[in-house]
Amino acid sequence: MTALLRDPLDAAALLRAGALVAFPTETVYGLGADACNGRAVAEIFAAKGRPHFNPLICHFADADAAFAQVRADARARALAARFWPGPLTLVLPRLADCRVELLAGAGLDTLAVRVPAHDLALAMLRAFGGPVAAPSANRSGRVSPTSPAHVMEELGGRIAAILDGGECAVGVESTVLDLAAGGAALLRPGGVPVEEIEAVIGPVGRPLPPEAAPAPTLRSPGLLLSHYAPALPLRLEAREVAADEALLAFGPPLPGAAITEQLSLSRDDREAARNLFGALRRLDAEGQRLGLRGIAAMPVPGGGLAPAIRDRLARAAAPRA
Ligand code: TXA
Ligand code: MG
Repeated sequence: MTALLRDPLDAAALLRAGALVAFPTETVYGLGADACNGRAVAEIFAAKGRPHFNPLICHFADADAAFAQVRADARARALAARFWPGPLTLVLPRLADCRVELLAGAGLDTLAVRVPAHDLALAMLRAFGGPVAAPSANRSGRVSPTSPAHVMEELGGRIAAILDGGECAVGVESTVLDLAAGGAALLRPGGVPVEEIEAVIGPVGRPLPPEAAPAPTLRSPGLLLSHYAPALPLRLEAREVAADEALLAFGPPLPGAAITEQLSLSRDDREAARNLFGALRRLDAEGQRLGLRGIAAMPVPGGGLAPAIRDRLARAAAPRA
C-alpha cells in the first residue's frame, strides 16, 4: 500500500526509517530516499527499474548543506545565489568526506546537487536534515510525473508514500549543468533557461540535439536517447494531422485530429512546460483506448523553456532500444 501524506514531517520520518517517499518539487515529483543509506538508495533503482550506471540528483534544504558534500567554486556559488531554491542542478566534484553513498552517484567522482523551490519539499528536507537522493518518480524510460495521481500510476504499491503537493508549477525537470570538468556544460535543458545561466557565468557548452548525440558517455551517463516514452509512437514537427492521430497542439490546433491536447494556445513556453507531461499521458491513454495510430506534436519553437520541451519530445519520439 502506498500512503498519501499531507505532512512533510511524516515524509521525513519515513525517509529516516529508510523508506521510499515520492515528494513534490517545482519541476516534477521526485522519488526520495536517504542518500546516505545504501539499501534505501538501492531500492530507488529497483523500484524504478533504473540502470545502476545512471546517477541520482541529491536534494538539500539550502546551498550550505549542498556545498558540505561537493566542492563549489565561485561560479557554483554565484549560480546557487541566483537560482536556488529553483530548477537548476549542479554537477560538482564530490568532497573527500562526502557522506552520500557512491551508488547514488553511480560510482562517479562527481555529484549532482539541487535545492528545490517547493515549500513542502523544503520542509521535508529541513526536517530530515540530510541529503535526499531523488530521480523523477516514474518507472525508468517513462513520462515524468507532475501530480500525485501520475506517481500512483507509475509506482503505486512499490513505495511507502507520496507527499501530496498537487500539480507541479514548472512541469519539466531541472536544468543539469556540469561544472566539474573546469568548463560549463549543459547536460540537460530544463526549468532554468540556459540564457539566464549564461548571464551569470558566461558561455555554456550546449549538447548536441538528442537525436544527433552519441550514446551516453561517462560524463552524462543518464542521457539515454529513448526516454519519456508514451506507448503510442510520437511524430515531431507535425504540420498536418491525420484523422487516426492524436494531436499535441502548441498554438491554434491543426484541424482534423481524432483528439487534441493544448500545450499553450498563446504559445507561452512556461504554460506549455507545465502542461507537457500531463498532456502526453492523457493523449497516450485516450489514444490507445480509441485505437489511434500515434501522437503528432506541433513544433515548439523559441528559447526560454522551449528547448527543454523539444528535448523531452525528441526523447519521447526516439525509437526504443
Ligand atoms: O527536476 C529534477 O531534476 C527532478 C526532481 C525530482 O528534482 N529530478 C530528476 O532526476 O529529473 P532524474 O534522475 O530523472 O534525472 C537526473 C539527471 C539524469 O539525466 C542523470 O544522468 C543526471 O541528472 N545526473 C545525475 N547525477 C549526475 C552526475 N554526477 N553527472 C552527470 N549527470 C548526472
Ligand atoms: Mg527522470
